[in-house]
Amino acid sequence: MYNAVISAVAGYVPETKLTNFDLEKMVETTNEWILTRTGIQERRIETDPNKANSDMAVEAVKLLCEKRGINPSEIDMLICATVTPDHVFPATANIIAAKIGAKNAWGYDIEAACSGFLFALGTAAQFVQTGRYKKAVVVGSDMMSRIIDYTDRTTCIIFGDGAGAVLVEPTTEDIGVKDFIFYSDGNGCKHLHMKAGGSALPTSVDTVQQRLHYVYQEGQPVFKQAVYGMAEVSAQIMERNQLKSEDIAWLVPHQANKRIIDATAQRMGLPPEKIMMNIERYGNTTAGTLPLLLWEYEHRLKKGDNLVLSTFGGGFTWGAMWLKWGYDGDK
Ligand code: UT7
Repeated sequence: MYNAVISAVAGYVPETKLTNFDLEKMVETTNEWILTRTGIQERRIETDPNKANSDMAVEAVKLLCEKRGINPSEIDMLICATVTPDHVFPATANIIAAKIGAKNAWGYDIEAACSGFLFALGTAAQFVQTGRYKKAVVVGSDMMSRIIDYTDRTTCIIFGDGAGAVLVEPTTEDIGVKDFIFYSDGNGCKHLHMKAGGSALPTSVDTVQQRLHYVYQEGQPVFKQAVYGMAEVSAQIMERNQLKSEDIAWLVPHQANKRIIDATAQRMGLPPEKIMMNIERYGNTTAGTLPLLLWEYEHRLKKGDNLVLSTFGGGFTWGAMWLKWGYDGDK
């Protein structure tokens, strides 16, 4: 058995910014409301109709290969976490692999909403720990703007587009993924889902007219569960591994709402300077949030740093992972 370590990280966000002031002109809201209730100032949106989710992911994976100095043909496994696949099928992972020339990779998608990247990282780590695969790419990528109703002020203020990717490799050093705890509860479906477009309610003229192909979210129940779930599972991973707050270098929390992140950090006894945060610039990119954080904070990370990754999302799905970072600073 090996340890599975992140050996490189990269990200991509579209150029176009959608600010709170832009949203003020689109729905009945204010910059002040959005900022105080969520911590978000702006998000990125892909405006080119010819670009799909896989195109963002391709940019991230290309940069990842450049940073690690490998050819895409060396990738032997690629998992993509997303709720906005290019198509219902085939898997977006396959499309990404084809576009970048990862011809020796097999792969599939994981659909666990905002927890998708963490679940995918845990899955890839198992394959790498056994020694079966040596270069597994884990992508978290969502083009949320394609499934958001920009007339619904309760959802359009939160979400944005973005992609991140990590490379996972085997090592015999005491670094990498140490432990994880994952949960899911399908009873949460009613509070956060897309009503039409699946086998429960296939697409029809009627479903389109009723705007049922957009994200439906009941904010309050999701908020309450997220605060409880993310804080609780983060405390659990600490207790199970006898980690004290001073042992943890960074909390890497899903970026859905600054208030949820603050509650999680408080439960873990962590000061603000140990919390990775970029929600103010990107909003909630669903499966993209965690790898985008790692990408932006990479230059501040040191080999051996204890990171706790923590998330909550639609499903409901939630979880936490303890990992020891594998290298110093930027690649
Ligand atoms: O990542 C996936 C998981 N998702 C989440 O974790 C999201 C969890 N939920 C949340 O982050 C929050 O519930 C929201 C940001 C979505 C909403 O914030 P809230 O503090 O829970 O607001 P609320 O839904 O309780 O609404 C409070 C008030 C309502 O008005 P009344 O009934 O008090 O008069 C809403 O109609 O705010 C109103 N409101 C708005 N006002 C201005 C709702 N959305 C807006 C808006 N601008 N955009």
